[in-house]
Amino acid sequence: MTTTGIHHRLVLARAPAKLNLFLEVKDKRPDGYHEIESVIVAVSLQDTIAFQVHDAPPRKLDVVRSAPLRAAGSQIPNGQGNLIWSALDRWGQFRGTQGSADRASVTLFKRIPEQAGLGGGSSDAAAALRWVRDVDAPDVSNETLSGLAAHIGSDVPFFIRSGISLCRGRGEIIEALQRSKPLWFVVAKPPTGASTPEVYRRLPANRQPISSRAMVEAIKHGTPQDVGKLMFNRLQSAAESLVPEIRRAAAEFERLRCCGHQLSGSGSAYFGLFVNRPDAHRAQQVLRARLPTWFVCSCRSLARVSSIDHTSTPPQEAGRDHH
Ligand code: C5P
Repeated sequence: MTTTGIHHRLVLARAPAKLNLFLEVKDKRPDGYHEIESVIVAVSLQDTIAFQVHDAPPRKLDVVRSAPLRAAGSQIPNGQGNLIWSALDRWGQFRGTQGSADRASVTLFKRIPEQAGLGGGSSDAAAALRWVRDVDAPDVSNETLSGLAAHIGSDVPFFIRSGISLCRGRGEIIEALQRSKPLWFVVAKPPTGASTPEVYRRLPANRQPISSRAMVEAIKHGTPQDVGKLMFNRLQSAAESLVPEIRRAAAEFERLRCCGHQLSGSGSAYFGLFVNRPDAHRAQQVLRARLPTWFVCSCRSLARVSSIDHTSTPPQEAGRDHH
């Protein structure tokens, strides 16, 4: 496809959410960030983003919220403050000219809740970087794009490629992991969100770091039960002290037949891992009945983000199942 060809074409990109199956937080660095070791999986709960280049500025960004997000009072900004905006600014700085980034017309169909630890904003930003790279400079490598992504947020580099990965450093050192069979999850987020900096501030200093090695092996070769036994999130207690509903989530998942359950990232979304799709679907129904004001959905792991869809099919109004 030529660059001219893609210019005025409506492009739909998928931006998946992520779940942290393992998250260890190590030392605080001089730059204020913590060293982490995290096994992260991209899942089928995803935003859809329509991108198009117009003949002239200004850049436009509209947000269309799914019904569950509207009901939850989602506040995703539709201009500056949205990470898609930051990603396009960053691309303009990298290229030395705003180019397509300044003439972009973007509609974000939002399904992933914010302040959830699901990486929704980071995934949207990565999708914007992939799209503008494809339009302006397809030769720019994923490694270069990941470098730009790290300036936008710690989780953004993961979403340049997605899939299942072991992420280290601040989150930007990424090793892809292979797994042949999908994993099935149910995500439940209480109405209250969690602020990531606040959760990190509440983390106690004395910690004996544990290794992700066993989890990495379980991801590659193990059953969902093997993976479930090794799930771990160092941020969970700190997040529970900030958002007490997280303890309710833990109690609800404990009643269900799941392989493991925990907080994702800094929360406040909580998730359970299930043996198969029917179990996940049943658990989703139970949780929707018991937690009527919460965001609840089932989803599965994605082997790898399906990059950009060059299509003009309009996105569906956000459904509640993400299989
Ligand atoms: O990079 P991001 O904007 O997502 O980080 C938000 C906040 O989370 C940071 O300002 C920092 O307080 C905390 N954080 C951290 N170590 C990381 C990632 C995030 O301390 N590896």
